[in-house]
Order: sequence, then C-alpha cells, then structure tokens
Amino acid sequence: MSSQRTIYTNNGKPWIAIAGEVHNSNSSDPAYMEGVWEQAQKLGMNTLLLPMSWELVEPEEGRFEFGLTDKLVAQARERGMKIVFLWFGTWKNAGCMYAPEWVKKDLARFPRAQVVKGKNKTTLEKFYGMSYTTLSYMGEETNRADTKAFTEWMKHLKEVDEKEHTVIGIQVENETGLQGEAREHSDEADAAFAEAVPQGLVDYLKAHTDSMEPEMKAAVEKGASAGTWDEVFGPVAEEAFSAYKIASYVERVAAAGKAVYELPMSVNCWLDKGDAAGIYPSGGPVAKVMEIWKYAAPSIDVFAPDIYVPYFHQICDQYMKMDNPLVIPETAVHSYAAPRMVYCVGHYHAACFAPFGFEDMGQPFNAVQGYLFGMDVTDPLLQTPQDVEEYGWCARTLHSMMDLLASKYGTKDLQAVISEKMDMTPMDMSAMDPAKGLAGMMKSNPENDTMMFGTFGFKVIMNMPMIPRKDGVCLVVRESEDTYYILGNACMIAPFSADPAKPNYDIISLEEGCFENGEWKAGRRLNGDESARLTFDEYGILKLKVFTYE
Ligand code: DGJ
Repeated sequence: MSSQRTIYTNNGKPWIAIAGEVHNSNSSDPAYMEGVWEQAQKLGMNTLLLPMSWELVEPEEGRFEFGLTDKLVAQARERGMKIVFLWFGTWKNAGCMYAPEWVKKDLARFPRAQVVKGKNKTTLEKFYGMSYTTLSYMGEETNRADTKAFTEWMKHLKEVDEKEHTVIGIQVENETGLQGEAREHSDEADAAFAEAVPQGLVDYLKAHTDSMEPEMKAAVEKGASAGTWDEVFGPVAEEAFSAYKIASYVERVAAAGKAVYELPMSVNCWLDKGDAAGIYPSGGPVAKVMEIWKYAAPSIDVFAPDIYVPYFHQICDQYMKMDNPLVIPETAVHSYAAPRMVYCVGHYHAACFAPFGFEDMGQPFNAVQGYLFGMDVTDPLLQTPQDVEEYGWCARTLHSMMDLLASKYGTKDLQAVISEKMDMTPMDMSAMDPAKGLAGMMKSNPENDTMMFGTFGFKVIMNMPMIPRKDGVCLVVRESEDTYYILGNACMIAPFSADPAKPNYDIISLEEGCFENGEWKAGRRLNGDESARLTFDEYGILKLKVFTYE
C-alpha cells in the first residue's frame, strides 16, 4: 500500500471526511436539503458530497447563478459541516444530462459523441437497448465552455468561502467516459486516432509500467516506443485514446479552476468489473488507465472509485497505487457500510468515505438498489440494510477521534481488521463469476486477523459461534508506547507480546469511555470478569494500557 493520507483540511489541520453523497437531485433545492442535512447529522456525518450542475450555474450562456451554492454553503456552516461539491458539467455517468439547455440544443457548436459514425444517439444493445448520447470529448468549444463555467463558479467559491473553508474539495465531472464503443467514431476522432501518440505520454508510460494493471502493462511493454495508438497500445489502443482525450479535457477544466482557487480536486470512476471498454464507460479513470490519467491530468489530486461491487477491498487496494489517497465518494448502504467505514479509516487511512444515497440508509432495498448494491451474490449481509444507530455511533466516534487518527495517518500506529476480508485472499477479479458470488473463492488468510505494533500484537477473532455476526471490525490506534484505543464490534481480541525478551504481558488498566472534542472521557474502569476476555458484541471503544515482562 503506498499512500495513506488525507487531502482535506480544516483550519490547516487534516480533515477526515466521514461523509455521505446525496441522491443526485436533492441538492438542487435548499428547502428539500433541510431534512437531508438533519439525516446526515443523525448519521454522524461531518461532510456532504453535493452535486452542483452546469445547467443551474449557467442557465443562459454568460449568465451565472450562484444563489444555490451560497445557500448550501450557509446550511453546512449552520451545522459545522463541510462540503465537497461535485461538478456535474460535460459528464454525468458517461452522459450529458446536466449540460445547460443552450449546450444541449446547439449540436453544431457542442457536438455529440459519435458512437456510430454519423449518429448523435445510439441504442446500447448490451445495455438493455437503452438509447444513449453524450457530448464529444473532441468538442473544443464544449471544453472551453465547461471550463469557463467551472472557473466562474470557482472564482465565486473563493470569494465567499476562502476564509471559512466550508468547501473542502471539488470533484470535477462525474463518472466520465463513453458507452457503446471503446472510442468515438466521428471523422475527426478517426483522424486523431490515426495520428501519432504524443511522445511525452509514451515515454511516461514506458517508464511507469510497475504500477500498471496486467492488461495495460503487457500492451505498453509490447507496444512501439513511438507511433500511432494502435502501434503503441495494441489491443487497448481505443480505450487508451479515449482515456487520454477525456483526461486532457478534464485537465483543462480542473487546471483553470485551480488557477483561480486552489482546492483538492478529484475524479470519480464507474468501475470496469472485468467487462469490455464501452460496456463500462471507456476512457473513464478505471485502474487500467490510471497512469494515462495521471500523465494527462496533473491537476487531479485523487482518483476515486465508486464501489458497489462485493470485492470492495480489492478495489481499495487497486486505488492506493501511485500515491493515490483513498477517497470513496460512493458506496452501498448495506450492512457492510459501517464496518467498511471504520476499516477504511483504520487500514487505508482514507481521506473520505461516503455512502451514496445515504438518505435511504436503513430502508429495505428496492430492485434497482438491490442490483446496484450487489444483492445478486451469495452473502446475505449484502442484502441487509445498514443499522442506522450503529452507523451514527461509528461516524460520531471517528469524527470525535479525528485529531488522534489523523496524527497517526501514514504510520503503523493505526491499523484495522475486518471480518469481511478475513476469509478472503486476493483473487483475480476477472475470475469472479457474479452468479456464484464470493462463495468458493474464500480461503483463510491469517495475515488479515493480526495487528502488530512493533513487538506487541492483537489477534482478532471473528466469525465464531459465540458472536455470530459477520460484520465485525476492529480498529486499534496506539497512542503511546504502551497505550492503545480499541474500537470494535463482533470480535474477540487476544493481545500478545512477540518480544522474545519480554514474552509476557499484564493489563495495567482498561477503561470504557468515549472521545469528546478529541479528549478521552473515561467511563467504567474494567477489571475482573470484564477484562478477562476482551470481547465486543456491540460497537464500543476501550482504552488499554499494558506492560510486558520476562
Ligand atoms: C453512480 C453515479 O456517480 C451517481 O451519481 C448515481 O447515479 C449512482 N451511480 C447510482 O444511483
């Protein structure tokens, strides 16, 4: 794992976004948002990810509307919360539904992507016959117009928020890419595809094959050192071309915005799930083309996966490469949500964890959510809504410990284990059969159940008959040489000394309690029966002081 850090700040101090992303339409109405903010507070969230669309910011060309932005910022401030705005500009889920009317209607000036030559709209056979259109990544005028709108909006954000810093980051566009084909097929796109690949890109990729996913690595290692897209990239040429064009387009938008107001900027990703480019949006920042994005979009600080697939942790691992901090802008609200949040903070030292559509947390899933959240696999917990009380407890606790946690980011003093991962070894995702789910692919992996702090360790026992819950998690933070905070659920903890000179240990003190504004407030002093077994059958936090001896 390379990078473990947060990119967000509050008053110059690191900020861990214990966040939620609202449903797409909710942030268009501040009155509607009142209830949503309230829900977010009940869930202990400290940050909301809120869409802000081009169509509402620039309803007529050159006329800008910032009233909605100001109201949302004011609502966050009233509650002491933060915002990461999501700029829904040229792209939203590989489509262009958030472009303003004057952009949508002027197809000559703002061309649509030609998935099929000469056609502005296509039927996606492999996507239930859905009809599909999006703006072209070759559209110079579109890129200029999106950049202009974004820059004006960023200027406004600077004016109204630079001092208070309620807005801590920006996601530029939303799930970019092209569906239907791996690249556009207009005459202009065909001509560009036949040209030579920019030499800087080829040289960069040839020098950065270490981090690459196997398919891209093989293609780049085998490909020419100079030449056309086909010559350099072989079988992945069309996707590489789309990635380079889209990343360059997004870079122009992001760089101009950053030049007026420097905020951390991210892009989110519709994952590839082992399909062909074009089934998932081709050219979006999937792990396979991250190195291309890194080269072409240097203003982007974070590549952020939207994770709804059951192999959550493998995606997190993939997105830690190239010093990329972990930001999860979207994930499911089923009952792994709380343990995954704790684990993401404790293990990946994540900058942001945000369930999507958290407004629905705790409600039974409808068919669409069920599909989205992976209900078609065998694990019943993927079908069970998250308990909202437990989520709120975890979120509030992590928030109240934020200073301590952030001070340990990037060090081995903060670790976590999770039941969900305990039975899994890294697997080849392409070998995953969605019909069979994870069953049969699980193997015990002892490395996933032990946390070592120098020579002192904690083995965590989960998934046992005594505690039948399968959503266990345990986060340990070492405050000083002999003092630990242990946040856990559905697990039993066995501390041990691995120091050959001092193989024994005693508990000096054990307290239950909580953090209030960063300070530990002790509750009961635990001893006797209560300290004989360190067991969590519900969420709790303990402070443990130990002593090792010969
Ligand atoms: C991913 C998108 O980024 C979100 O805006 C939303 O559309 C979800 N998918 C699905 O509801």
